[in-house]
Amino acid sequence: MRIMKNNWRQKLHLEPKSGWLNDPNGLSWFNGCYHVYFQYAPDDPCGDGDKCWGHWCSTDMLRWTYTGTVLVPDIPEDRNGVYSGSGIAADDMLHLFYTGNVKEDGDHDYVTSGRGANVITVTTSDGHNMSEKKVVLRNQDYPDYCSCHVRDPKVWKDGNIYRMVLGARTLSNEGCVLMYKSSDLNSWEYDHVLGIPDMGYMWECPDFFTIGSHSYLSVSPQGLAHEEMRFQNVYSSGYFRADGELTDFTEWDCGFDFYAPQTFETPDGRRILIGWMGIGDIPYTNPTVELGWQHCLTVPREVTAAKDGSLLQLPVREMRKLRRENRDLENGMTTPLPFELVADTDKEFTLNIGGYLTMSFVDGVFTLRFTDDNASGGRTVRKAALSDCKELLLLADTSSIEVYLNGGEKVLSTRFYPSDTEVKLEFSGMSGILYELDALEVKLDEQ
Ligand code: FRU
Repeated sequence: MRIMKNNWRQKLHLEPKSGWLNDPNGLSWFNGCYHVYFQYAPDDPCGDGDKCWGHWCSTDMLRWTYTGTVLVPDIPEDRNGVYSGSGIAADDMLHLFYTGNVKEDGDHDYVTSGRGANVITVTTSDGHNMSEKKVVLRNQDYPDYCSCHVRDPKVWKDGNIYRMVLGARTLSNEGCVLMYKSSDLNSWEYDHVLGIPDMGYMWECPDFFTIGSHSYLSVSPQGLAHEEMRFQNVYSSGYFRADGELTDFTEWDCGFDFYAPQTFETPDGRRILIGWMGIGDIPYTNPTVELGWQHCLTVPREVTAAKDGSLLQLPVREMRKLRRENRDLENGMTTPLPFELVADTDKEFTLNIGGYLTMSFVDGVFTLRFTDDNASGGRTVRKAALSDCKELLLLADTSSIEVYLNGGEKVLSTRFYPSDTEVKLEFSGMSGILYELDALEVKLDEQ
């Protein structure tokens, strides 16, 4: 029998007390606080019921306050779900934009008919009390070649105008994004479409941002053909270089559990990415469902551009304040969860965590493989190709691991379900430091 000491409550990752979480929404810095909203089905750990937005805020990304379910479906234009969207601070208010999902009664396929996808905006001065909802775009405002899958507005400021990008599926089942512009955040005009052939049938959760002199379009495509070392999950997410044509699609994360990321800018100019540490329609499971909740967000990650313009991701520097005890890495050592491991690696290396999962780098391939079916929830193996690997940073929480290779050149995230809160580390080909970590502080202040 499996004796459980671990209740899988995360210590470093935001997760709901009960119910189901998916995409991060409305990420922003406003009024002296970071705001993290998320897709939330509060009553069902499997995501049934209409989606709402839950809300956490924090001044330092370490001490969070949960203020409750702040946007619920309550007008005809969002009656089947307050779907994903974004936030932008302007005129001393936080302006939130989301997709109001509508499913009409009748005999519909909900792709070419029967679905309303309204862009709706609200404002808030405190992050949780919302103004009246205002519909700014409806199905008839989208180009004729679109199906009724158009959603997930991301809004940003570009010089003197505001821009919005929406994810879409065309009637010929190609993913693309629609670009709109506005001078006042209320009236929106179609500008242009961006797409590329053979990149799946739908692009969800788009984001557009610049770092240095380069522009990037992030999307979460559905329908990419699976390959041995790319697009291994049911759905993918990654970014294009978008200085002109869309080129060089690169996955954000090659692990089992990552989807629908969104970015925002901190007041000191850092680009931060948070993803959903989960995916819809997965062939594996999360045993927290039996305990009443499912899924968490990734830790906030700082995104920077390498010399060649490709993007690197590392946990926000604020997370270093959680470091407690530190010890040199020693083969066979045990450590409580959560921990952070920071190592320089040899040409080849292996690391086993608690007998649950093994990582290795051999011949240009990093492999993450579960070695214990009880802890995997059906997850098996994920691979990532790198020309060489010199550095490993690992953030291990009570039921997840984020692996950052070569200063964030490749990242792999996975849930794992150890029965214990202590794990033994067995490795070869690395040296470095292990930090035990304090937990994030998360207070409940439901209004
Ligand atoms: C992505 C997604 C979004 C949608 C939301 C609904 O996971 O399908 O496209 O807005 O989830 O919860």
